[in-house]
Amino acid sequence: MGKTVVIQSTQTQVNAPQRIEIAQLYRQDNHPEQIQDIRQLFKNYLIKLNSEDPMKYKALDLSLIYPEKDSVKDLLEQVDDLKKCLDSFRPLNPAQLENLEHAFDIQYTHESTKIEGNSLTLSETALVIEKGITVKGKPLKDHIEVLNHQKALEYIKSIAVPEYELTQDDLLKIHNLILQGIDHHNAGKYRSQRVIISGSRHIPPNPLKVYDLMQLYFEEYTQERNDLHPVLLAARMHERLVRIHPFIDGNGRTARLIMNLILIQNGYPIANILGETEKKDAYCDALEKSHMEGKSEDFQKIILNEVKQAFFNYLDMVADPDVEEGKGTYFFKKIKPFLIT
Ligand SMILES: Nc1ncnc2c1ncn2[C@@H]1O[C@H](COP(=O)(O)OP(=O)(O)OP(=O)(O)O)[C@@H](O)[C@H]1O
Ligand SMILES: [Mg+2]
Repeated sequence: MGKTVVIQSTQTQVNAPQRIEIAQLYRQDNHPEQIQDIRQLFKNYLIKLNSEDPMKYKALDLSLIYPEKDSVKDLLEQVDDLKKCLDSFRPLNPAQLENLEHAFDIQYTHESTKIEGNSLTLSETALVIEKGITVKGKPLKDHIEVLNHQKALEYIKSIAVPEYELTQDDLLKIHNLILQGIDHHNAGKYRSQRVIISGSRHIPPNPLKVYDLMQLYFEEYTQERNDLHPVLLAARMHERLVRIHPFIDGNGRTARLIMNLILIQNGYPIANILGETEKKDAYCDALEKSHMEGKSEDFQKIILNEVKQAFFNYLDMVADPDVEEGKGTYFFKKIKPFLIT
């Protein structure tokens, strides 16, 4: 004789007024037909936007939805909202994600080595990394630097899982990768000499203090990692590392990698500080202000704006009105008011 199995209902009981409220919410926001309508609206919007030049893809201008802001608080709100938009498309299509990340990684390696004076262009950087081709007339050191940076980037990605607690060994490993084949003696080692930062009035601490200051650096990280907003934690770890300037060279590249490790492990995209003069100057000025006047808002805003831009770049690519059903709901609801022109 068959056994009767009693399946207990796990549904939460709701009372009548609650039911009406839920039904209203459902109708207003999540009803498939509503989302379908927004998708169609978005599709028409994009067709219109791209009608003039079919060879060039124009995406929805996200700065209409997330305009320029001047306070850390407002920027934090924007990046967290953008995170919700991007997360609503997850899981992203693996092939598309690989393609995007590869392109963004090469841009990041290019810009982070450019800041430091590397002469390779973006396309040359791609050639060196993807094909191992050497560029005629460009220094060997510049080739090694971009290859090293790419390896260090792969390394941070391999350890950037949620909750992972960064260690001193990781930091030294990153620095070791950065200076491989360039300065064997100092790669992966704290400095034992004094340094000055050109163009800066900030004088980094005496080498005798570096080891202790770095222990403190990790102690503070352990205390702050669960309390600070991840983007502010990332900015702070960068800012504090270059303040100590624990290495003879490669402090900037290592600090940017540490910052991005924290961003990635918390589900944020890479903040790519551009190597062009204007951006580089603003970045160095913000660090100077933080170190000389103790005011870190400018630096936080620079990082927040780069994270915001990186979210725009991802959303430009993945926010597709034809994405599979059930995805992008948060984003579609967000853009709806801006599609009605
Ligand atoms: N006023 C400042 N105080 C502290 N650090 C600064 C200041 N201005 C710039 N920096 C940091 O110092 C870095 C340069 O240091 P260093 O040459 O050791 O690093 P790098 O990786 O070789 O070069 P870069 O960071 O320019 O690519 C800058 O990138 C920036 O992060
Ligand atoms: Mg340098």
